[in-house]
Amino acid sequence: MSILKVARLGHPVLRSPSRPVTPAELATPDLQRLIDDMIETMYEYDGVGVAAPQVHVGLRLAVLEVPESDERTREAVPLTVLVNPEIKPMGPELEIGWEGCLSIPDLRGQTPRFSRLSLSALDRDGKAFTLEAAGFHARVIQHECDHLDGRVYLDRMDGMRTLSYQHELERHALPHGD
Ligand code: NI
Repeated sequence: MSILKVARLGHPVLRSPSRPVTPAELATPDLQRLIDDMIETMYEYDGVGVAAPQVHVGLRLAVLEVPESDERTREAVPLTVLVNPEIKPMGPELEIGWEGCLSIPDLRGQTPRFSRLSLSALDRDGKAFTLEAAGFHARVIQHECDHLDGRVYLDRMDGMRTLSYQHELERHALPHGD
């Protein structure tokens, strides 16, 4: 497995819509290796998700995993591979939370997202699955699916006033405050 170079904001691949993965190409060793490398890259950079455009590949493919230790979540999310994902919000409720992105290093911003959604996708073996997600899990799914349409979280923020360096947020956050 290899750690892949992550595209940073300004690279056109992050602003281009990706195309669906075909069943034939999903079965190839090259594509299976790409999935393994995306997982390795996510772990290396302590991300909770990586989408294929972030590693310079314009395919509708993403991986995500949220460890229990992540302070933004109440529940861990197991490693999930999303191939050609489609999401539908379950209701109009939005919630605001901090987001960051490996393609926009060191920054965080408060970003509104749908609170609940249903997801349908293929797994890495080409098998269809559906799931429902809420809270931070739903946030990560929306963030990764946005990458497949050439969008980043900055586009979803209500203005830039909360955009902050992670280091400064940690310095100035009130202990256990809200
Ligand atoms: Ni991202």
